[in-house]
Amino acid sequence: MVSLDINGKHQNVDVPGETPLLWTLRDELGLTGSKFGCGMALCGACTVHVDGQAVRSCITPISAVENRKIVTIEAVGGDPIGKALQAAWVELGVPQCGYCQAGQIMSAAALLRRTPTPTDVQIDEAMDGNICRCGTYTRIRAAIKQAAAKQGGTR
Ligand code: FES
Ligand code: FES
Repeated sequence: MVSLDINGKHQNVDVPGETPLLWTLRDELGLTGSKFGCGMALCGACTVHVDGQAVRSCITPISAVENRKIVTIEAVGGDPIGKALQAAWVELGVPQCGYCQAGQIMSAAALLRRTPTPTDVQIDEAMDGNICRCGTYTRIRAAIKQAAAKQGGTR
């Protein structure tokens, strides 16, 4: 049994400790917002937060995150940064197919938490590992800037 702190709730899951966090979220807990893309930390579709850091849940064993604070796309709107990002995503119509977008928002939220007024270079560096097959990168960058501005910072 592994004890997890997910979206502010303690959950015990009865799976082996080496089970990837993404599998646990989706298959055991029904949190299907985080997506499977590559399974090898190459695309970012599975990104969640662990103690505020963007983490690829497809390669993270649950034994490594026991009792650490995990936040998924289902709850990222519960803090002001996540809420501002989601609003900007909607206002600018960022998604196309949508598959990559949960991971994009999670990476963007981690960026704005550590860098409230990111430059284009900082945005590109932070978002580099999040692949979008639909090519929404320009809108993603604009939405991050809009959310940053709403949070009080612009550059
Ligand atoms: S599914 Fe995790 S990085 Fe691609
Ligand atoms: S919106 Fe389709 S993969 Fe990004």
